[in-house]
Amino acid sequence: MPPVQRPRRLRRTETMRALTRETRLHRDALVLPFFVCPGERVRREIASMPGVFNLSVDEFVREVEAARELGLRAIILFGLPEAKDELGSGAYAPDGIVQRAIRAARKRVSDLLIIADTCLCEYTAHGHCGVVRDGEVLNDESLELLARTAVSQAEAGADIVAPSAMMDGQVAAIRSALDRHGFKHVAIMAYAVKYASAFYGPFREAADSTPTFGDRRAYQMDPPNAREALREAELDYAEGADILMVKPATPYLDIVRAVRERFDVPVAAYHVSGEYAMLKAAARNGWIDEERAALEILTSIRRAGADIIITYYAREAAKLLEREPSRS
Ligand code: PBG
Repeated sequence: MPPVQRPRRLRRTETMRALTRETRLHRDALVLPFFVCPGERVRREIASMPGVFNLSVDEFVREVEAARELGLRAIILFGLPEAKDELGSGAYAPDGIVQRAIRAARKRVSDLLIIADTCLCEYTAHGHCGVVRDGEVLNDESLELLARTAVSQAEAGADIVAPSAMMDGQVAAIRSALDRHGFKHVAIMAYAVKYASAFYGPFREAADSTPTFGDRRAYQMDPPNAREALREAELDYAEGADILMVKPATPYLDIVRAVRERFDVPVAAYHVSGEYAMLKAAARNGWIDEERAALEILTSIRRAGADIIITYYAREAAKLLEREPSRS
């Protein structure tokens, strides 16, 4: 008996495939990360992240303009301060590195969406995401500093703050501080579900944020847990998060899907540094077709339910999607 159903009919030509394509990647959904550092004319490539740089503010502004030319409209910022201290004061200094970068970008590119990562780990001498006492990362003592950080980022002109410290109650603390300071309009993209992942390795080189003792497992989530992910998402939602993020992306596509189905706010997924580094390494060895693999992975994140994808591949993806509109 010849088959009655022939799914191959809809795959015969590119026009047919385009007509029946279920998931589309669009550059409007992409967010490009930046690591801003002190100095002038600094462009320091991250060894484990080819194509990603520590940029001084002047170079960063140039890169933002170039990204805008490619059609990218959203960026997320991380900072490397001049100096680190016990309380991460560089994170909430009015003229901190991220605050300066936000102001400079804002001046040059008017229709740019600026997201500021709200955390202390790049700014603390010990490299943890909160206040440390007797080897413990204290929760409630950290909330006030995270809230101050968010307010100073909003003052500098951030459209969205993105708390990533995984302290309990951080979204509520930030929401109320923003509101008190007249930033009711500033949105919160919560790193709601952030796992204690090996895939952040290259980022810690880029942001110089490796903890000097211990690790982040006492505050970031345990990778085997899925129900707990929904509990974390629920808490951040209840505390006023406008966007819920899952991080990393590809090892946690089941979680992206689960959060998508449970909550009716936009879901973001962070395709993190280690996920990027793996692709780059394989591509550099000639082991995979980088362009196809990168688009396939970004598409899988979208297919799992992410509305927003934060990725170091945003630039390349924007170029590819431009060149081949059928894939966008
Ligand atoms: C800050 C932060 C980290 C990342 C984003 N925000 C590092 C960490 O938690 O160790 C990781 C991003 C990446 O790996 O690309 N807490």
